[in-house]
Amino acid sequence: MSHDEFPTDRPAVVTCGLPYANGDLHVGHLRTYVGGDVYARALETLGQETAFVCGSDMHGTPVAVNADKEGVSPEEFALEWHETYKQTFPQFDIGFDNYGHTHDETNTELTQEIVRDLAAAGHIYEKEIMVAYDPIEDQHLPDRYVEGTCPYCGETARGDECDDGCQRHLEPGEIEDPVSSITGNPAEYHERTHKFFEVSEFEDYLTDFLDRLDGTSNAQNQPREWIESGLQDWCITRDLDWGIDYPDDAADADDDDADDLVLYVWVDAPIEYISSTKQYTDRVGSDVYDWEQPWKEDGEIVHVIGRDIIQHHAIFWPAMLNGAGYVEPRAIMASGFVTLGGKGFSTSRDRAVWADEYLDEGFHPDLLRYYLATNGGFQQDVDFSWEKFRDRVNTELVGTLGNFVYRSLLFAARNYGGAPDATVSEAVDDRISEAVADFESAINDYSIRKAGNAAIDLAGFGNEYIQRNEPWKLTDDDPEQAEQVIYDCVQLSKALAVLFQPAAPETCDRLWSQLGEDGTVADATVDDASAAPQGEFDEPDELFEKIEAERVEELNEKLDQRVADATDDEPEADAADVDDTDETMTDDTTDDTDTQAASLETLTEERISFEDFQELDIRVGEIIDAEGVEDADKLATLQVDIGLEERQLVAGIKQLHDLDSLPGTRVIIVANLEKAELFGVESNGMLLAAGEEADLLTTHGDAAVGTRIQ
Ligand code: MSP
Ligand code: ZN
Repeated sequence: MSHDEFPTDRPAVVTCGLPYANGDLHVGHLRTYVGGDVYARALETLGQETAFVCGSDMHGTPVAVNADKEGVSPEEFALEWHETYKQTFPQFDIGFDNYGHTHDETNTELTQEIVRDLAAAGHIYEKEIMVAYDPIEDQHLPDRYVEGTCPYCGETARGDECDDGCQRHLEPGEIEDPVSSITGNPAEYHERTHKFFEVSEFEDYLTDFLDRLDGTSNAQNQPREWIESGLQDWCITRDLDWGIDYPDDAADADDDDADDLVLYVWVDAPIEYISSTKQYTDRVGSDVYDWEQPWKEDGEIVHVIGRDIIQHHAIFWPAMLNGAGYVEPRAIMASGFVTLGGKGFSTSRDRAVWADEYLDEGFHPDLLRYYLATNGGFQQDVDFSWEKFRDRVNTELVGTLGNFVYRSLLFAARNYGGAPDATVSEAVDDRISEAVADFESAINDYSIRKAGNAAIDLAGFGNEYIQRNEPWKLTDDDPEQAEQVIYDCVQLSKALAVLFQPAAPETCDRLWSQLGEDGTVADATVDDASAAPQGEFDEPDELFEKIEAERVEELNEKLDQRVADATDDEPEADAADVDDTDETMTDDTTDDTDTQAASLETLTEERISFEDFQELDIRVGEIIDAEGVEDADKLATLQVDIGLEERQLVAGIKQLHDLDSLPGTRVIIVANLEKAELFGVESNGMLLAAGEEADLLTTHGDAAVGTRIQ
């Protein structure tokens, strides 16, 4: 879009939405952190100087209320979760350069400084509003501290959000029949003076900013709509003890209320992105990485978040940065939600797949990383499924990448003690360059899915290459050619280690050692993909382990039970409900369109040209024969008559259709899709089918076999 292609000569900062220090992390959260980690690693692979930072979000009423319930101070409560997260992230190889928290000194000071700057620039004013109050306890009841009836739908709601009903954000003072969620005491409303940040003044700036903004299109389009429907100023203070104090010297001298006010959690939370970068510099020295450059001069700031917090990152945050004289974000990558059985994860109802639980099952973190990074486009909502997880692992990781690398390196080690004496063939060198180009353009498109696929496609090529050239038949008759083929395969394996490292860092590091390469592959850049392999190495071990069908059955049973239990005690809620550990904003963060989003994939916003469409050669065909692929649970081999010739296709329909009854069925296939090899069987085209059940596409009339779809 409007920015230079990566790598640039300016330092990048990649950040992830901070987790509320409030409860266990689940696989939904991990989509943000895996997404950020893969992206940051990929930038480094491109040779981009990058700091990858995050921290725990310690403040706000979600933390304060839960701490109250446990009878501990919010600080103690949040710090404990913070320590837990610090352990969890490395277990998934999520390698932040700095992981701080919003309550530390760096963030407290910087937040107050930025608020002072905003006040000095005239962007903050005060206004009287009605807030809920517990007269018996003499306690103010902001956000989660108050419960009552939603004025819009009549459901029970929290002070800031009607999360069990219509999902609307509620302003202070709106909730009816308010009671304290701590004591159950009836609450009253009384008037208080609060501080407002004049977001509405930034309308022109934000409109232009969104035109410049890169990343996923949802982060541009939704905010544009919000701007069009009118920006409201934003209440940035709360009557609460827990938080960062509103700075005294930014308050009017005659303003008594300001003494008791803390900043709203969404003010200090994003500032942690800057604070955490600063702490990184404090640790490594400004000659290694200088935080002031990206934040105060010019840099490539990329925020990775879930779609529920787009508004905070694409409206409030850039307005704050601009108002206080900081550099604006270059890109926002906003992921779709991970759902379970089509519904949002729910921490309190235990409807979730937990990060710890995944590890306790004994699965390697790279499997989940790969699944989360590549299953669906980043913007799409993805329903978590152990079956799909297993499918991706067995087909692509075990069957394609693992299989290719293992057979290549085993052959090389046994016959030549490593890479044979040769140089890479032109064809293979070109194919590696193509994969590197795909990887580069994927990162410039902010697509971690395409980046992962660039490596898997290269492995697919490798499998086909070794299969076609059959080096095992050449060792006696044409030893030189055998050496050439195997050398090429070692080179391909090295390129795979480099290009797949962002998605599967530990596995690729193992591959790197198997290749006898020095150091860690995390330090390699795309140039190393084509650099000559080191030479000697021993017999390898397999990189990935297959997941058995019974494992998935067990896991599904557990999960089904959990989802059923959670659903039983649940009121009718929005299917795509955002996580309930969440603290929402002063405006609608959810709307009706979200309701359907979980059951249907969101529409792809980017359009393709008619010319692009015409490049697809889609034909009417007729199935002649259908057989299951041996050893593969889901795949079937189909022979399809497409008029001009007969095609063999491999399709994931083994368990979904009665194969014996398929011959004679009229189907639609993409005839010019690249050939692929699945479980050693060549697939020459793709069968079109709808949805999870693979409902086969066909024609309504009797168009002849071979007719092109246009
Ligand atoms: N603390 C705020 C973010 C502050 S950023 C300055 C917050 N915390 S959270 O714990 O609720 O979420 C942490 C990250 O996980 C966010 O990026 C959020 O969008 C993401 N997700 C939480 N649940 C999710 C799913 N079920 N699916 C996908 N992402 C989700 O929001
Ligand atoms: Zn409601």
